[in-house]
Amino acid sequence: MYKPSIHLCTQKPQTVPTRGKASWKCVLVFFLLVVTVIFTHQFIRTQLQGYPESGPWRFENLESYYVSYPHQYNFILDHPDKCSQHKPFMVVMVPVAPHQTEQRIAIRKTWGNDSAVRDGQVLVLFLLGLPSENDSKTDQKRIELENLQHQDILQSDFIDSYRNLTIKTMIMLEWLKDRCAQVKYAAKVDADMLLNITAMIKMLQDSVTPQKNYITGLISYENVVIRDPYNKFYIPPEVYADSVYPPYPLGMCYIISMDLPEKILQMSKKIKPIFIEDAYIGMCLQQLQIYPISPPIPARFVVKPPGTYNRCYYASLIAVITYNPDELISYWTDLHKPGPQC
Ligand SMILES: *[C@@H]1O[C@H](CO)[C@@H](O)[C@H](O)[C@H]1NC(C)=O
Ligand SMILES: *[C@@H]1O[C@H](CO)[C@@H](O)[C@H](O)[C@H]1NC(C)=O
Ligand SMILES: *[C@@H]1O[C@H](CO)[C@@H](O)[C@H](O)[C@H]1NC(C)=O
Ligand SMILES: *[C@@H]1O[C@H](CO)[C@@H](O)[C@H](O)[C@H]1NC(C)=O
Repeated sequence: MYKPSIHLCTQKPQTVPTRGKASWKCVLVFFLLVVTVIFTHQFIRTQLQGYPESGPWRFENLESYYVSYPHQYNFILDHPDKCSQHKPFMVVMVPVAPHQTEQRIAIRKTWGNDSAVRDGQVLVLFLLGLPSENDSKTDQKRIELENLQHQDILQSDFIDSYRNLTIKTMIMLEWLKDRCAQVKYAAKVDADMLLNITAMIKMLQDSVTPQKNYITGLISYENVVIRDPYNKFYIPPEVYADSVYPPYPLGMCYIISMDLPEKILQMSKKIKPIFIEDAYIGMCLQQLQIYPISPPIPARFVVKPPGTYNRCYYASLIAVITYNPDELISYWTDLHKPGPQC
């Protein structure tokens, strides 16, 4: 319908009198085009993603609160023999979105390059899904190159998005169960965490630390289920009836003994996975009658850091959230400067 009009816009006006007519048509056509593009984009967005960026998060279709799991997802980037080759003491899995290149660079420069990682005692791997439509199209090639260079990316073929984080965690457990059975512990660590790997190993190697049915981190007890549809963690009672979640370690950083991946995966067959990744782990643990255990010094895991950096305080921590990759690098660099930390 608008094809001839576009022609009208591009052709040079032959005679002066038609010019005025042509330009208002151009404006109209341009306007219609913009409107069409915006609507098509919105339509595709809601069809593909179905999730608005701001509330309300109340959906007719209850499936919106669950994730597509179990499902046969495949690894398109894999390192199947890393665990059996390096025989690490611990594997640290870092879920990260494909576009978060800076976060991966920051980790590789800082705690991901700890001497315990370099000598193979700790294996650090990044876990990605497929770039969502939100990610730029060049991402996939870049990721493959990045993996060629660093050999540290696992990528599975589900769409990587906030609402799909539970899929990522379950895929992580599958990978650990299949590839790392002989390893003692695994940690799931978000990409914005500043980690003291030495301190984490020390804590795990303590003789009082259980080697089975062990899950630790910052444990959330009696966390209230959000019933406000303007909160992105909104869950309707039809999906989860209790008013509080069972105890679970906050998703930012938790550590599990290597017998747990298989147990959680078995139990997950009986509990439909909701999109809130860490609460879902709590739901599985509760049915398994495995209770998350607080670390010996819970204050060494920090979800709300103080407003200002303090070298002495940060040196006492095992895991603390940072606000961006630059902050992660600058804190880590400062902590590793010679001289007393306190
Ligand atoms: C990791 O540490 C080693 C030894 O300190 C250093 O030579 C190397 O450049 C570091 N790598 C990165 C990515 O920072
Ligand atoms: C889309 O990507 C940008 C960064 O490229 C990120 O800040 C934003 O949160 C993403 N949005 C969604 C809905 O994932
Ligand atoms: C989650 O991943 C599945 C499998 O790739 C996909 O079909 C679905 O659209 C994704 N959901 C979101 C919200 O990205
Ligand atoms: C990491 O933790 C160990 C053991 O608690 C401590 O001695 C060391 O100073 C910490 N390192 C940094 C960089 O904070």
